Amino acid sequence: MLAKELRRKYIEFFVKKYGHKEIDGSPLIPENDPTVLFTTAGMHPLVPYLLGEPHPEGKRLVDCQKCLRTDDIDEVGDDTHLTFFEMLGNWSLGDYFKEEAINMSMEFLVEELKLDPRRLYVSVFNGDEDAPKDECSIRCWEEVFKKKGVDSSGRIFMYTKKENWWGPAGTTGPCGPCTEMYYFVGDDFSVIGDYHPANSDLFVEIWNDVFMEYNKKEDGRFDKLIQNNVDTGLGLERVTALLQKKKSHYDTELFSNIINKIKELSTNDIKGSIRIIADHLRAATFLLCDKITPSNVDQGYILRRLIRRAIRHGHKLGIEKRFTHIISEIVINDYKDPYIALLENKDFIIEQLQQEEQKFFEALKHGEKEFRKLLSKLIETERKVLSGEESFYLYETYGFPIEITQELAKENGIDVDIEGFKESYKRHQDLSRKGAEHKFRGGLSDNTVETTKLHTATHLLHKALRMVLGDHVEQRGSNITAERLRFDFSHDAKLTPDQLKEVEEIVNDVIARALPVDVQEMTVDEAKSRGAIGLFEHKYSEKVKVYSIGDFSMEICGGPHIKNTKELKKFRILKEQSSSAGVRRIKAVIEK
Ligand code: SER
Repeated sequence: MLAKELRRKYIEFFVKKYGHKEIDGSPLIPENDPTVLFTTAGMHPLVPYLLGEPHPEGKRLVDCQKCLRTDDIDEVGDDTHLTFFEMLGNWSLGDYFKEEAINMSMEFLVEELKLDPRRLYVSVFNGDEDAPKDECSIRCWEEVFKKKGVDSSGRIFMYTKKENWWGPAGTTGPCGPCTEMYYFVGDDFSVIGDYHPANSDLFVEIWNDVFMEYNKKEDGRFDKLIQNNVDTGLGLERVTALLQKKKSHYDTELFSNIINKIKELSTNDIKGSIRIIADHLRAATFLLCDKITPSNVDQGYILRRLIRRAIRHGHKLGIEKRFTHIISEIVINDYKDPYIALLENKDFIIEQLQQEEQKFFEALKHGEKEFRKLLSKLIETERKVLSGEESFYLYETYGFPIEITQELAKENGIDVDIEGFKESYKRHQDLSRKGAEHKFRGGLSDNTVETTKLHTATHLLHKALRMVLGDHVEQRGSNITAERLRFDFSHDAKLTPDQLKEVEEIVNDVIARALPVDVQEMTVDEAKSRGAIGLFEHKYSEKVKVYSIGDFSMEICGGPHIKNTKELKKFRILKEQSSSAGVRRIKAVIEK
């Protein structure tokens, strides 16, 4: 079965058989959710609905969500790890729960995918001080296995939170115990008792059913949510490989054209490097499509890292020419169905890759010059080792990769204190992680009064910017904490003091007019024809929420918002700066 067939089959099964509504996946950058950098699971865009807000499409949903996870970036290159991946999921928002979800999962795996139930193993949450053992799921599995004529003894594993708990997406919010499904891919059933599905490559983890019944609060408590939800995730790449009896997703059609092209350009055949390039440039293409551009902070930094890492591995493979855009074109072509936006943004994606590759080339040139300077200093002082700090300085200041420092050092008979480099690197990583935690704490997923106010202020700002600068202004990112809003938008020049003043005045004027904030549900088509702004990522026929602020603004948005602009009192812009090429950033506050 091809991946595109699996995508369709999954959606159709839940739509036709169990009355789910198909919704479009969201962008890789969570809109209005400052608690995370990327959409790492299907639940992010649905957090408000898991917390109890009604979803315009109802209580049963199904989707295919693009996700990006970089925690395991160093493992990419083996058979199983990826940064970018697609996740199929069915959702119950306060509708069905454990029994139905487990029955549906078993039915889909066995009846639709024709997997062998005797090869199926599952794990269930064992309970701890926060939540009890998931007895209900154990019972459900025993029954469904029995219905399939399979003895369930020895098939249901009990694990702790580390394995069998999901969420919250950020530091607080919806979460709960999960039950994971594993498929035994070995030949000898008699060895099964010796292994744990969660950490043996004789088992492939294929699907996760999460029972979101808790809300983690800021003080670490787990409260019961007002409704019981189901969030499931089936990894498209992994299951495609399984169905095709391939050891790795890199051996499926999801990667074959990309890998063949890389091989065609290479003079060396290094499997790990080929896979790293395939993974990273696939991820980079999708990030660029969502209008992230390479930079030194936040999402842009991760994108830069992916592209530059791919280029370095390109050098290892002996690729002489600029190649990232060539690979990206293959990605665009192979994924344009169902991701038509790739085609629409093709010029932008290609241009950005070419620019970044050029910048990296320059960085390497400068880095090498700096390396030579350090080298003469070493020779002068008769030192034979480049310290960890010196090599980290090259890395940090010039983006000069440690591998290249090592190569050049070797050529010159110099050692590199690699342990020292790792220490400096780790110190820096810990610092920036702390910074990021601080930066992304709190936010709309908590629905605090402050963030809700700033969210409404963001809509006012968005509209005012379009009035002052023109209709080319579009949202490129939004990050709201209780203290301030941060809004990124497309515009390629610095705003003049007069323009900033005008924007501020327009917003404050709307606040003074005490306009009501209303929400209506309609199709994207209708929203568009009424002049609503916002991200038109969804299908035209799909229902969305549209927030209007009096006669001033109308925007597609999941909410939440305040009831009347007068609650905002006074709006003030703190700062206007560049965010990345062609994107400006405004930080603003509401005066208390
Ligand atoms: N959120 C869960 C996961 O990512 C299920 O979708 O595995």
